[in-house]
Amino acid sequence: MVGPDQPSGRFLSPVSGVAVRFTCCSGQWLTKRTNSEFSGLMAHKAISTLKSLSLEAPGPVDLISLVGNTPLLRIQKLARDFPEVEILAKAEWENPGGSVKDRAALNIILEAERAGLMNREKILIDSTSGNTGIAYAMICAARGYRLKIFMPSNASIERKRILHAYGVEIVYTDPMEGSDGAIRRVRELAEDNPELYFYANQYDNPANWRAHYNATAPEIFEQTAGRLTHFVAGLGTSGTFVGTSRRLRELNPQIRCISVQPDAPFHGLEGLKHMPTAIQPAIYDPGLADENIEIPTEEAYAMTLRLAREEGMLVGISAGAAMIAALKVAAKTGKGVIVTIFCDSGDKYLSERFWEEGKR
Ligand SMILES: Cc1ncc(COP(=O)(O)O)c(C=O)c1O
Repeated sequence: MVGPDQPSGRFLSPVSGVAVRFTCCSGQWLTKRTNSEFSGLMAHKAISTLKSLSLEAPGPVDLISLVGNTPLLRIQKLARDFPEVEILAKAEWENPGGSVKDRAALNIILEAERAGLMNREKILIDSTSGNTGIAYAMICAARGYRLKIFMPSNASIERKRILHAYGVEIVYTDPMEGSDGAIRRVRELAEDNPELYFYANQYDNPANWRAHYNATAPEIFEQTAGRLTHFVAGLGTSGTFVGTSRRLRELNPQIRCISVQPDAPFHGLEGLKHMPTAIQPAIYDPGLADENIEIPTEEAYAMTLRLAREEGMLVGISAGAAMIAALKVAAKTGKGVIVTIFCDSGDKYLSERFWEEGKR
């Protein structure tokens, strides 16, 4: 916690141009997540360094300024078979709405505001399996916008409760039609009344991938001091994979980018899509991946349990899938720095039965 005796503020990173938060704790200046360039510096040294950068006034911050700049965590035990490989995971649950989707939702809204498409007269509508809805809910509440979300009725009870708590209007769609059913319903409404609604359209809106191009990729590059050799991420809307891969490739064309998806149309990897059978998002670029790895749901459940019990990381199921893919890449390459994305935490999945099945 940042108290009155613990000054805080932000500076612009000279490497990525990304705003980095810092605070002073017990005489040490720490960045928001303690893992980057100022961690461990004594106060006087950090102050002089910060003064030479474009330091903004310390003090309170807006909620949305907490989006991004997530820590990069080292996987310890699960990677021990590969001593010459570092596996690192972006802890996206550290975003204020609890998932990677805060980044896309925020950029979609900010770009729409700048283009004059979103204002307090309009209602934001979109389809989402949960995390984007929660991100929209948080941002819309903070900005005074109305929001209507279309989601399959079999979404987890935790997600429904969170959206309800934010006061969101939810339209439940046929669970048998999955996320594609929700997409079809919201499209119909958007076409019926374009004046009333801003259809955010996370699947087709380039503002989605640009969030990752502008922030997630530079953060990763900076946090690894440019050492990463492989980037591994799951495909939902594909915004995370597409935006991050595009920018990383520009920063270093040698970086290999590996996409992850379920191995079947009906699966339990919430947030991910089986691209061959789903409605393809317009922002998806299948030519971007050097490799695509398909993960069975049961294996992702088992890995999600292991991440909780062996690494102390209570993450969502798509993170379990990403971890399996990262290990497959590690086994193949034998040497390198692999960065993956852990999209959210496990709390929204606690009603799933697989936690019980893994009881010991
Ligand atoms: C838990 C989870 N994992 C992965 C993803 C995929 O991210 P993206 O939509 O950027 O492809 C999502 C997207 O909603 C998600 O909620």
